[in-house]
Amino acid sequence: MRPRAVSPDREIDGRRDTGNRASQERLRHDAPVRDRSSRKKLRPTAERHYPGDGLFDRLARAVCAADAVPRKELYESWEVARRVRRRLRGRRIVDLACGHGLLAQIAAILDRDAEEVVALDPNLPPSAERVAAALAERWPFLAQRVRRVASKLEHFELASDDLVISAHACGGLTDRILDRAIAARAAVAVLPCCSDHSHSDVGNLDGWMDADLAIDAVRAIRLRAAGYRIWTQTIPAAITPKNRLLIGKPLDT
Ligand SMILES: C[S@@+](CC[C@H](N)C(=O)[O-])C[C@H]1O[C@@H](n2cnc3c(N)ncnc32)[C@H](O)[C@@H]1O
Repeated sequence: MRPRAVSPDREIDGRRDTGNRASQERLRHDAPVRDRSSRKKLRPTAERHYPGDGLFDRLARAVCAADAVPRKELYESWEVARRVRRRLRGRRIVDLACGHGLLAQIAAILDRDAEEVVALDPNLPPSAERVAAALAERWPFLAQRVRRVASKLEHFELASDDLVISAHACGGLTDRILDRAIAARAAVAVLPCCSDHSHSDVGNLDGWMDADLAIDAVRAIRLRAAGYRIWTQTIPAAITPKNRLLIGKPLDT
């Protein structure tokens, strides 16, 4: 018998809801406690909400200890990193427009074979340091593996065996990330953010669909036309409405 399809929204804390009564109970119980879209900073006192031994709970406790990241961004980074990990590997992983750098840190934890993980942003916030320190306390190898680079992506050289990742790079920044990845023939995964309708290409598709969706559809087609195998996925909309994940890998690698 074929396994029953489970909608991405029926996932919680990175664990799949199997639909049985215990997990239904857990979903009901957790929902009010943990609004996954909350922009409230995860404080050390929130550690009690993540008591388990699983990787997600251990990670969440470390993020709480950092006292630096909104709850939504913990879930976003986790959901992106685990989906990308299933599809792509890179000798080096490069998180462009990384902000606090949590996506880069989680990517490093999930892919121990990556030789280096770069977290790049021209405006690295103080939270990036706090996140790195809190996670390195639990996973000491991260201190050597993850390199924070204060730079614009335009000044960073990419290689064909890189894996480029990026979450919520605003407007046309996502397009520039795709351009750079394509030019280097690097594997790439982006979770686009707000769209800049005046600069991003809607491909004349906005007569049929919402302009933001049209822009992401054109991005996917462009990646495919550039010789990439693509995957189009979503992370749970309960975390963010900007939840379309575009993954691509050059066909010739
Ligand atoms: C909305 S934030 C996303 C941060 C993070 N990826 C996240 O998911 O929370 C967009 C980031 O893009 C960065 N940024 C802006 N221009 C950039 C550029 N030319 N190269 C790299 N990053 C840039 C900003 O400094 C900002 O941190």
